[in-house]
Amino acid sequence: MGKIEQKPQSGRPIGIDLTKAPEPELSNKAITPERYWDRDFWKREWETVWTRTWQVAAMVNQFNKPGDFVTLEFGTEVILAVMGDDSEIRCFYNVCQHRGMMLVTAETGNMRRLTCPYHAWSYDLRGNIKTIPDEPDFAPELACRTKNLVPIRTECWGGFVWFNMDDEAMPLREFLAPVADHLDAYPMEKMVRTTWVTIEGDFNWKLVQDNFNESYHVFHAHPQLKYVAEFSYLYSQFDLYPSGHARMLMAGGAPSRTVRGGEPEIIRQMGEHIRFWGLDPDDFAGRMHDLREALQRQKRKLGAEKGYDFSSYDDVMLTDNWHYTLFPNLSFSMKPDGNIWLRARPHPTDPEKCFFDMWYLNLFPEGQTTYYSPTMRDWVSMETPAPHQTGKAGEYTMGPTIDQDLALWSAQQKALHSRGYKREVLAGQESRVRYFHDNLDRWMARG
Ligand code: FES
Ligand SMILES: [Fe+2]
Repeated sequence: MGKIEQKPQSGRPIGIDLTKAPEPELSNKAITPERYWDRDFWKREWETVWTRTWQVAAMVNQFNKPGDFVTLEFGTEVILAVMGDDSEIRCFYNVCQHRGMMLVTAETGNMRRLTCPYHAWSYDLRGNIKTIPDEPDFAPELACRTKNLVPIRTECWGGFVWFNMDDEAMPLREFLAPVADHLDAYPMEKMVRTTWVTIEGDFNWKLVQDNFNESYHVFHAHPQLKYVAEFSYLYSQFDLYPSGHARMLMAGGAPSRTVRGGEPEIIRQMGEHIRFWGLDPDDFAGRMHDLREALQRQKRKLGAEKGYDFSSYDDVMLTDNWHYTLFPNLSFSMKPDGNIWLRARPHPTDPEKCFFDMWYLNLFPEGQTTYYSPTMRDWVSMETPAPHQTGKAGEYTMGPTIDQDLALWSAQQKALHSRGYKREVLAGQESRVRYFHDNLDRWMARG
């Protein structure tokens, strides 16, 4: 049993296995600063990690009819995901087989045929070559008719379209173990993206993953969180799985046990949410720590009436924050009503840059199109598709907490070049950082 208490539930499935994973053996190898800028290291990451791990191309609900497509810049590749006339979503390398023109330059859209903007070779929605202007002018031995788009392995899970450039890679579900089994307790496919921000950051992608692999920084970098979550490692549980993925269980719905008073701030942050669930924040004066269980009871009682199906949720899932970091570059920060989805993508040319994506995936109550999101602390609408906001740090908000994380990494990237820094010193609660780097080394050693 871990640090989050799971009460036996009768008559319905327990949401997620909360058993603490056995501690793996960790190295004490230096996480040297060069890992964050060395060009050879970065190239080896591309060969051994990025082209071999399962990655997310798009959300399944971006594809509604044949011809709908999404492109994703990923390192030196652009991945093209397109729905075929058989409604299957397939990923391809987005490159014309004639002379290497980028086939699709838009990020999203619909095409009946995939027609190259250069000399108009065209491919059908399953990637098969269809039209070759002046075809008799090509020598027969060139076998133009065999020049189909190059497919990339594609699988869907959790409302996401996943791709893997390695034809030998293990199936997606196996790669995701045991995370997919856990997250199936959430209605992932029903979540709607209400925030879609990409920041071109001047920091290496690993600074992002390191950050989301520890909560040691929460006390100082996110001082507001202690009013709504139990940030302390003493009361959180960390699990490191053999697959290389990791989990943090952190209680939510009430202030940290370390907080005395602070009621105006608690109510400022949680008041709307508390009232949404039919409770009066004033009733909790002097006993704000009781909010977690009270919210759990209310959500259980009023969930169906409010348009939620919580039947697959354990009580603790109704309030708590389950934070999963997936190797190498994803975080799913699960809330009762959504998912802060975070990813650092490799940059095409510069080890000291990356693309940092934040999506907020909102679970709307049935029959409602607007909803107050306690995580984003804002009203959100499912009727307006979230525009893709892309820019530099500070130009768009990723919500109060992630903005605070983002503000750190550029300065850290610069400081890592200092002659005055040699290697890390990690606390016990930062073991996921160590595990991440150990796993990176393991993948890279496979060659
Ligand atoms: S490069 Fe695509 S048709 Fe020529
Ligand atoms: Fe953070």
